[in-house]
Amino acid sequence: MTSSGSAERTLVLIKPDGVRRRLVSEILGRFERKGLGIDALALRRIDDRFADQHYADHLAAPFYPGLRAFMTSGPLVALVLSGDDVVRMVRGMVGATDGRRAVPGTIRGDFATSGRENLVHAADSADGARREIALWFPDLD
Ligand code: PPS
Repeated sequence: MTSSGSAERTLVLIKPDGVRRRLVSEILGRFERKGLGIDALALRRIDDRFADQHYADHLAAPFYPGLRAFMTSGPLVALVLSGDDVVRMVRGMVGATDGRRAVPGTIRGDFATSGRENLVHAADSADGARREIALWFPDLD
C-alpha cells in the first residue's frame, strides 16, 4: 500500500543541479502542495555503474556521456511519489526535457534553461517507474 492509498507510484530525482541551486524545497514543495504522497526520500550520490543501470535505455545516445558525468557530479535527491495517475501527473508538472522549451508553470519551465541540467528526472511510464523504484529503493514495500 502506498502512503496515499493509491496503487500508482513514480520515481523522481532532483538532479545535482537542483541540489546545488538550493531548489530542493521548492521542487519537493510543489509535489507536496499538489497532494502527492512521499513514500521514500533519500539524499544519494551515484557512481558510473549505477547511472548506467538507471539510464539503461540511453547508453548509446550521443548525449549519454555528458549526462552520466552530470548525474555523478554531486548529491541528488531520490523520491518515490504516490497518487492516482501519478506517473502522468508528475511528468506534466516537470515539463519538457529542454528547459528552454518547457512551458512556464512547469518545474523546468520556471527554473531551467538547459537541455542537460534540467533539474528533475521523472519515470516516463508505470513499467519504467516499477523498474526504477526497484533499483533505487529495493527494500521499499
Ligand atoms: S529521448 O531521446 O526521447 O529518449 O530523450 P528524452 O526521453 O527526452 O531524454 C532521455 C534522458 O536523456 C536526457 N537528455 C539529455 N541529457 C543531456 N544532454 C542532452 N542533450 C539530453 N537530451 C536528453 C533527458 O533529460 C532524459 O533524462 P531524465 O533523467 O529522464 O531527465
